[in-house]
Amino acid sequence: MQLCHPAFPATRMRRTRLAPWSRSMLRETNLTPSDLIWPVFVIEGQNKTEEISSMPGVFRYSIDRLVKQVQEAKDLGIPAVALFPKMSKDQKDGRGTAALDPENLVCRAIREIKDNVDGIGVLCDVALDPYTSHGHDGILEHGYVNNDATVEVLVGQALNQAKAGCDILGPSDMMDGRVGKIRNALESQGFVNTMIMSYSCKYASSFYGPFREAVGSGALLQGDKKTYQQDPANVLESLREAALDVEEGADMVMVKPGMPYLDVLYRVKQTLGVPTFVYQVSGEYSMICLAIEKGWLSREQAMIESLTSFKRAGADGVLTYFAVEAAKHLQQSS
Ligand code: PBG
Repeated sequence: MQLCHPAFPATRMRRTRLAPWSRSMLRETNLTPSDLIWPVFVIEGQNKTEEISSMPGVFRYSIDRLVKQVQEAKDLGIPAVALFPKMSKDQKDGRGTAALDPENLVCRAIREIKDNVDGIGVLCDVALDPYTSHGHDGILEHGYVNNDATVEVLVGQALNQAKAGCDILGPSDMMDGRVGKIRNALESQGFVNTMIMSYSCKYASSFYGPFREAVGSGALLQGDKKTYQQDPANVLESLREAALDVEEGADMVMVKPGMPYLDVLYRVKQTLGVPTFVYQVSGEYSMICLAIEKGWLSREQAMIESLTSFKRAGADGVLTYFAVEAAKHLQQSS
């Protein structure tokens, strides 16, 4: 871009910052509720809401309550929710078998939402970690997650969720080749319009800690996920990961976590030009909340500023635990 600024005082950058109306008129990035996807945790039972100690203001809901929450999100203009089941210990095993059960918690939640709330999308993870006794996203063999054996189960999980009515499948497991296999299975079974938002660029991050408490996989996790999730030091690797997933049939890609990886988000969007989402993960959320609780950050400003930074970097949408609160704020201030 050619810079053609006459010098000071012909150019005074502060002129257009003078008033709220002029700042609004010149704003390059506008955050709206339609940019937000709300991740929400679901539990068994009736009429239940559980607190998550490491995520202030985030709760696990039984399906009946979840449906009401999803209706509220829809009324606020949020286009989609992402469901995460917390399974009890006796529902978990080494192979994540419960992921294939058409009556499992997440499938029942999908069906209830689809039957009762009109006009909101449902996104579900494709990964085995809520269902495995060892907390890994796949099938563990001698301490190593077996890629190809895991992909077979993931295809079954993906189809199971698609049959229950899931609109968007989000493979979050980082196995190689899973997007292509899932896409083929969806096509051959007639689910030609089921979308795939691939967790393409997913790092082996310390910022997932609170999430693992929320779904109850943290205490179980043996070792770490470094043999399948990416090294935080890499960015070119993310461009390859995202390109492969698009070639295999992903409709959208995702970068995760968010704030420490804005450069990755920017480069993926610039390089591939495909719909690119970002996940402001649990650790980012909890960090901001804790500083707010301490009185060190202002709640609305920190929330909106962090979400706006994702759009500025090129995100088409953001998965965020702030979604409902941010949507309320955006409606009030518009
Ligand atoms: C499971 C999954 C994780 C998150 C979303 N899906 C955790 C992990 O990979 O260990 C993290 C989300 C968050 O921290 O908010 N594969």
